[in-house]
Amino acid sequence: MLKEHLQTFSQQPTPFYVYDLPLLRQTLDLAQAEAAKYDYHVHYALKANANAPILAEVLERGFGADCVSGNEVRRALEAGFAADQIVFAGVGKADAEINFALNANIFCFNSESVQELEVIQELASAKGKVAQIALRINPNVDAYTHKHITTGLEENKFGINLWELEELVPRFAEWPNLKLIGLHFHIGSQITDLRAFENLCVRVNEIQRWFEERGLTFSHLNVGGGLGVDYHTPEANPIADFTAYFGIFHQLLEKRPGQVVHFELGRALVAPSGNLISKVLYLKHGQKTNFVILDAGMTELMRPALYQAYHKIENLTSDLPAMTYDVVGPICESTDCFSKDVELPETKRGDLVAIRTAGAYGEVMVSEYNLRDRVKAIYLS
Ligand code: LLP
Repeated sequence: MLKEHLQTFSQQPTPFYVYDLPLLRQTLDLAQAEAAKYDYHVHYALKANANAPILAEVLERGFGADCVSGNEVRRALEAGFAADQIVFAGVGKADAEINFALNANIFCFNSESVQELEVIQELASAKGKVAQIALRINPNVDAYTHKHITTGLEENKFGINLWELEELVPRFAEWPNLKLIGLHFHIGSQITDLRAFENLCVRVNEIQRWFEERGLTFSHLNVGGGLGVDYHTPEANPIADFTAYFGIFHQLLEKRPGQVVHFELGRALVAPSGNLISKVLYLKHGQKTNFVILDAGMTELMRPALYQAYHKIENLTSDLPAMTYDVVGPICESTDCFSKDVELPETKRGDLVAIRTAGAYGEVMVSEYNLRDRVKAIYLS
């Protein structure tokens, strides 16, 4: 399917990201329809991809915005998200970022520590405002995902630990400028073993009951994001199982009357529609390994170097019989390798390759290392 656009691609300077907006729309519509079955509300996690044309599609479908920095809050506002549709999470919110979000009157701070609550109280009080708070609780649930993207275990830095809650609850009486309205959880990303979400539901139910026994109720529960995609089958549509995902929460999460359940999906919404297109610079034939050297590297797509992540690679130009290659980038690092032992049609200098399923955590994570130019993006409409 990408091959249909070879003519367009060959006129662009490489490397570049290409986003398939019709596919993005289909994915967003499907997620929205599945969530709507249960009146669930999705906040899109901007950290996955914050490009304006992507945000415009997200906004059009009525999703809210999940932000993890002052600049993400600013970007969401600029994109047109209403302030009361914006949540702000993150373990290290700086005072200036909190002040910015307070001034903007965002919906809720997902607060990750007792000290952060003290700071929000102080800053909100100075402005004569009341900040709405959801407590991000570390539920100590295993997400069965790569260790670098698991977040809900006791040893991770995220959230308030269960054993801290008993002391924390009475302190809200000292904090007139904080209004506790929700509970927030997020156990990790690229979760493909959906039992992790079943375990999360069981834990959230217990934690909610624990609070209720102490007289505290919540207008919303935020169960985070994390739904994984199948990086091995970019051509499948959908490549994330929204039906099963929302179905688990519907079946297992205890929702109180009038309570709203929030989700914060990033990857599953935008990964499928993005691809990194790169040109083959050189071929190098070693005794054991044939290398394809691309003009894109870890600076344009860091996931393989950082998490040993798999992205399917396709040669869009060649139809020759297959050979086995290591596909690498130009950066002066041995980890600058997209994939080892890949079967590709025999590849030549100048061929265009697509690195698939790169719409999430791709372009947002670019680096200038080696003083690389910032990668460009084009959009198929
Ligand atoms: N909510 C919170 C609090 C999060 O920390 C994250 C992701 C999300 C929502 C969205 O999760 P998603 O639906 O996208 O899984 N750079 C890594 C992924 C880091 C995810 C960080 N948090 C990667 O490339 O795999």
